[in-house]
Amino acid sequence: MINSKSEVGSMLKVGLHKERVNSYLEGKNIFPVTLELDLTSECTRVCPECPSINSAKHHHLTIDFLEKLFANLKGQTSGLLLTGGEPTMSLLFPKVLENARRFGFQEIAVVTNGSLINRSHVADALLKYATTIRLSMYDWEDNSKGGVGSTLKRIEFLRQRIDREGSELKIGASALTSASRVGQLDSLVERLRTAGVHWIYFHPLCSKWGLGSPELADQDGVSAKIEQIRAGRNGGNDVFFIRERYQNTDLRFNGYHAAHFLLVVGADGLNYLAPEVKYQSKFVIADFHEDDRLDILWDARRLDLISSIHSQSYSALQSRHRSILYNHFLEGLLRQEKNSLEDFKIAAKTRFSFPHIL
Ligand SMILES: C[S@@+](CC[C@H](N)C(=O)[O-])C[C@H]1O[C@@H](n2cnc3c(N)ncnc32)[C@H](O)[C@@H]1O
Repeated sequence: MINSKSEVGSMLKVGLHKERVNSYLEGKNIFPVTLELDLTSECTRVCPECPSINSAKHHHLTIDFLEKLFANLKGQTSGLLLTGGEPTMSLLFPKVLENARRFGFQEIAVVTNGSLINRSHVADALLKYATTIRLSMYDWEDNSKGGVGSTLKRIEFLRQRIDREGSELKIGASALTSASRVGQLDSLVERLRTAGVHWIYFHPLCSKWGLGSPELADQDGVSAKIEQIRAGRNGGNDVFFIRERYQNTDLRFNGYHAAHFLLVVGADGLNYLAPEVKYQSKFVIADFHEDDRLDILWDARRLDLISSIHSQSYSALQSRHRSILYNHFLEGLLRQEKNSLEDFKIAAKTRFSFPHIL
């Protein structure tokens, strides 16, 4: 289990980076807190709603490209989140983790479907360099698809190596929720705990994600169930979710501020506005191939594209993705709204696991 008094995710997590937020509010150029990177758009699975799988041609980043990017962010950006595609499929996976540490990233998180985590070159690199993995559980809700037994076995095996070798690596597991899956959440949590995960994260299943306009599946009863597990007899300190993803409060912003805090780079080397619109050409805000200068981050065209995004017309608003929630919070701070200023104080006092992973 990770620190029992800490949270993994929240709309306010960006507010933990108080100095950076204040600099942004003062109109200064800031470096991102987190780099979210797809090493490859290829995957071992074919999920119908996934944006990576939709691309006509697969892409892979090169070591040369990555070293330039890491060098540009060195000493400024401390969090690296590898996702994809399936990051562990990349032949560069161990080298990239090693380089990321060499270039000063303090926290490295890997989002993976877990299919390759027991290959020795993948497991060795995870145990040595990664801070945490977030293992996405698929097909747990439908026993007819063969269930999750093999994934749980791989988790068990990795956990045994962590304990035996004294690695700092934490194993997280994530599961996509919907109203129809509420009844299976308890047993999934139990099975994951028995397999040896340190933390569990629930997030909402979306449809139309690959089209750039993700919408949440019906989430009726989900957050109440998660709250119940968190308060449960067996302890719920290892179970997390972002509450605001499950609410239907208004989200408002003029400009996509979160793009300055979370830098999203696809396997095609393009900088996308946000995770929820990855691989959507109309949301490309910079091309790191064209220009590897550091100041591409503050290039006038990039800044204009970021400020041109408004909540009224943003096609992915309904996904209530974490980045959209950060954005809403940052907008409230810019407008000096009372609630947001109070929340900013709360953020500073909240303990987060993996604080550099937005
Ligand atoms: C696209 S995957 C890429 C990384 C890796 N291959 C994996 O499976 O974790 C990243 C995240 O997207 C989530 N995801 C997959 N299908 C989704 C859907 N229909 N709606 C919302 N999230 C989804 C996965 O659960 C995973 O946590």
